[in-house]
Amino acid sequence: MKRSFFFALAAIAFCPGIHAQRKAIPQKVDSVLRLMTLEEKIGQMNQYNGDWAATGPITREGDKQDQIRKGMVGSMLNIMGIEHTRELQEIAMSSRRKIPLLFGQDVIHGYRTIFPIPLGEAASWDLDAIESSARIAATEAAAAGIHWTFAPMVDIARDPRWGRVMEGAGEDPYLGSCIARARVQGFQGKRLGDTDAVMACAKHFAAYGAAIGGRDYNSVDMSLRTLWEVYLPPFRAAEEAGAATFMNSFNDLDGIPATGNRYLQRDILKGQWGFKGFVVSDWGSVGEMIAHGYAKDHAEAAFKAVTAGCDMDMESRSYISQLAGLVKAGKVDGTLIDDAVRRILTKKFELGLFDDPYKFCNAARSAQQWNNPDNLRVERTVAEKSIVLLQNEHQLLPLKKGGTIALIGPLIKSVRDNLGFWSYEWPDDSDRIVSPWEGVRRKAGEGTRLLYARGCGLTDTSRAGFAEAVATAQQADVVIIDVGETRDMSGEAKSRSNLHLPGVQEELIQAIQSTGRPVVVMISAGRPLIFNWTADHVPAILYTWWLGTEAGDAMADVLFGDYNPSGKLPMSFPRAEGQIPIYYDHFSTGRPARNDSDLNYVSAYTDLPNDPRYPFGYGLSYTHFSYSDITLSSARFKPGGRLTATVTVTNAGAYDGRETVQLYIRDLYGSVVRPVRELKGFQQVFLKAGESKTLTFTLTTADLRFYNDKLQYIFEPGAFKVFIGGNSRDVKEAAFTLDRE
Ligand code: NOJ
Repeated sequence: MKRSFFFALAAIAFCPGIHAQRKAIPQKVDSVLRLMTLEEKIGQMNQYNGDWAATGPITREGDKQDQIRKGMVGSMLNIMGIEHTRELQEIAMSSRRKIPLLFGQDVIHGYRTIFPIPLGEAASWDLDAIESSARIAATEAAAAGIHWTFAPMVDIARDPRWGRVMEGAGEDPYLGSCIARARVQGFQGKRLGDTDAVMACAKHFAAYGAAIGGRDYNSVDMSLRTLWEVYLPPFRAAEEAGAATFMNSFNDLDGIPATGNRYLQRDILKGQWGFKGFVVSDWGSVGEMIAHGYAKDHAEAAFKAVTAGCDMDMESRSYISQLAGLVKAGKVDGTLIDDAVRRILTKKFELGLFDDPYKFCNAARSAQQWNNPDNLRVERTVAEKSIVLLQNEHQLLPLKKGGTIALIGPLIKSVRDNLGFWSYEWPDDSDRIVSPWEGVRRKAGEGTRLLYARGCGLTDTSRAGFAEAVATAQQADVVIIDVGETRDMSGEAKSRSNLHLPGVQEELIQAIQSTGRPVVVMISAGRPLIFNWTADHVPAILYTWWLGTEAGDAMADVLFGDYNPSGKLPMSFPRAEGQIPIYYDHFSTGRPARNDSDLNYVSAYTDLPNDPRYPFGYGLSYTHFSYSDITLSSARFKPGGRLTATVTVTNAGAYDGRETVQLYIRDLYGSVVRPVRELKGFQQVFLKAGESKTLTFTLTTADLRFYNDKLQYIFEPGAFKVFIGGNSRDVKEAAFTLDRE
């Protein structure tokens, strides 16, 4: 909250003309709207794909060009580069009304410089780092002619079978909201219209992360309480941070497809929240309402989507083919069309495209951003902060330089996998990407002998490479193994029912571990994977996600101790797929399992503990942080008052390091049941070895609120607990009471 307030003040102070300019926009929009035919208006609500990735440059798209010339297209996606965006913009400028096109693109975690996947960045819990990553992505994309990114994805995700967990901030609504805000601010910069800012798009509205069974595009069924308490808060945060656009989603929610869902789009987003931007459909999701069985044809689909509040149709062509007829037949009210077009034109004005449709097509700026070394430097620091140290027995890490190190595994020399699913292949980028092998080679220096063996392919069933890998490991003082997923194993349409390390990778780890050489395993993946044998036997494990362009350098920084790992998991890591969905802020149940030995007639599995392999918020450091007991300013407080909770955190180990101190609460008894723990705050602190700092958290009734059985957002007097610690499991606790007035 404080961050966005500060940001708002800063933005106003920095841009004194902003209000005057905004005020004029509605009149400008109206003056354009008045001149438009119905068909031209509907054209603004139509978005086409450029097919750049599939068929090459847009110049082949004769039909679409013709439609742009006729004013039948308001926006394009997947047009890459200033040359092609300029080419299409020139065509739009030759149309009767000369309304500039909007160019949208999935700039999810970087454009030219690829940053860690969003789930990895979320593990940094570092909001400034996350904002700077989005800032750089925006700067690079805007310099390449792009006006609009389809990010951030702010879907809460509690099911790692869903491949898109990689694209979000994990399982928690509080952390997810903080990150949503940071990413919107990063993309949109000081203000829309600056040539280093792109419009953000909060997606997928709403509840897409809860697709049943973790199967992409699947239905969602949840209580309104879960919707409001868990899935909507990051959207609300994105809207409050000024997200220019929202994208609806593929899923149906309680039987109504989100694209045709009036409750979500008109009542909540545009009604209760007062959202002034526009809503774009997901790819083809207007037309997909036919397959859902919610519309019998494109006409009904267009009717239901526009009535529900979806302003722009991405690629289903239902609006462009049907809306004019529906309006003329009196089935769709023309004011709905005007409202949608007004929203879209407003953004075009705010971006400054009516003044200069080519302002984002600047060759000099584009060239300057294309190989900007500063962007790579930032990427490296964000990547370091995203790495999570899961285990480090006998202080095996950090490694010393010198001696012989064996580098083994299918990903150790991989160049592109660390770029992740949502990254582009630029013809000249392979020299910029730092593989794990290359990162270690650079860092370890000439005095260190490096050996290499692949061991196996990522999805191999063959163990043919094991003997060579074992022989290589036997010659080494220490072995680093890099395993995980290829970049196309997590992402859109990449649901998986089996989350174990693919192929024979865990067997490779077993074979190497049996040599008796000290082993460090790095797991590079787009989702939480299951690797119980490794967790039980291997002394040192780093979870490295997909770290982006500078992945290898960041890994080497952590392996050799130039960066002391500080990442904390933004999702619970399951022991088995059968535990999914798994999340820390569950309810207690009437028969909670109190320990692992007495599991009779309690809410538990008979074949597996309830708890995750690694809990939410978990992550180690090369040093050790100890926590004092919590001191409360008072054991009771009243509505309108505040309570402070103080702890002293001490760096009790030998390395300087950064800790993320997390505060959770529990409302013990309520008119509805409450989670066993809820994150309500966190602070990051850097402590030199031996140093202590006292941290204070302030709680008010705003932190104690929840939705009651009438869906009113309230707090209730009564008994609470507060917990503070380095993860959601290992915490100190104290009790307090909220009195009545
Ligand atoms: C479908 C995805 O669900 C969405 O997130 C993305 O922005 C669009 N395709 C456009 O590529």
